[in-house]
Amino acid sequence: MDTRELDKKYVANTYARQDVVFVRGQGAEVFDEDDKRYIDLGAGIAVNEFGLSDPVWAAAVTEQVSKLQHMSNLYYTEPCVSLAKMLCERTGMRKVFFGNSGAEANECAIKTARKWAFDKYGDESRATIVTLKNSFHGRTITTLSATGQDAFHTKFGPFTPGFVHASAQDAGEFRSLAEKGNCCAVMMELIQGEGGVVPLTQSYVDEVVKIAREYDLLLIVDEVQTGNGRTGTLYAYEQFGFMPDIVTTAKGLGGGLPLGACLLGERVEHTLSYGDHGSTFGGNPVACAGAVSILERIDDTLLEGVRRKGEYIKSALTGAKGVRSVTGMGLMVGILTEKPAGEVVRAALKRGVVPLTAHEKVRLLPPLNITDEQLKEAVEILKEVIGE
Ligand SMILES: Cc1ncc(COP(=O)(O)O)c(C=O)c1O
Repeated sequence: MDTRELDKKYVANTYARQDVVFVRGQGAEVFDEDDKRYIDLGAGIAVNEFGLSDPVWAAAVTEQVSKLQHMSNLYYTEPCVSLAKMLCERTGMRKVFFGNSGAEANECAIKTARKWAFDKYGDESRATIVTLKNSFHGRTITTLSATGQDAFHTKFGPFTPGFVHASAQDAGEFRSLAEKGNCCAVMMELIQGEGGVVPLTQSYVDEVVKIAREYDLLLIVDEVQTGNGRTGTLYAYEQFGFMPDIVTTAKGLGGGLPLGACLLGERVEHTLSYGDHGSTFGGNPVACAGAVSILERIDDTLLEGVRRKGEYIKSALTGAKGVRSVTGMGLMVGILTEKPAGEVVRAALKRGVVPLTAHEKVRLLPPLNITDEQLKEAVEILKEVIGE
């Protein structure tokens, strides 16, 4: 049996896979089992920051794997500490809790916000968290509850209570929820990724920050997809001009190994204490050693390149035949096409380009080090496929 048939027989049917088996890659190029070359515009959904077979990351990971692949969080290990220090120094956050995924990072944020309110107000009367409509925060039962899309709120109930969803267009709706006095936090993606690469407006974010401060709600920013250089700054909130209380991230931070992080700011740095939270693999030395090698290379030059390449994609596609709109920041781009997005992706794959979809849009999340030549080649093919 070939890989496709074995997958259908033995792997749970949760993914509608594209008709391709990838076997190896180098940077932004990936090859299938027939050695056909593709340009990767998805990076494993914003994970492979420096592409495939990234030699720096691979060296950091292999060095660590041959020294100490895992120890329990009952003991100190150096890579976890180094990574936490780097994250805090670069963001101004105070402490980090490590898990293994975006959903786990968000679970930690939710627990932290509720405990913070419990400690401050003495009971669970402010346990509710406001999230935004069209958001996506993960696949656990609690992060599905947090996710503001009705499509995720059927079949798997009962869901975790304590979430309300506000329209991202209307700060008045957020104010009326905050006024009730039963909320401890608002959690938002600054660009709604799975929701179709929809950036929040600066004026909406300004209002949310103001109202959250007025009613003593924590500001949680979900940077699982937008984080780690993807939008042209280390974290997207930097471009919106405010300081969150909690930042969650994952995906690109690990560069290909499972790693999630919940960054805790000044107001919540002492909220979690012994026994409040934990994870067997969270902060694993191998994943953290790889992440240190990723974070070290997200410097001004790389970020400038991300912004420039993002602008190139936008200007090349805006107004092109078959393109209705282009949204996003840096190398996180959504393209609304006249053709269905799925059709565009399938046609692009045939032509050796690997884009993604998000809702009704074609979504691009290429490796941050994709070369100008690779990007140009891929965008030209995409343009043809969209306009055909
Ligand atoms: C904004 C956001 N939050 C959370 C998640 C969940 O991350 P994970 O799949 O690592 O649990 C995702 C995944 O796409 C995401 O985009």
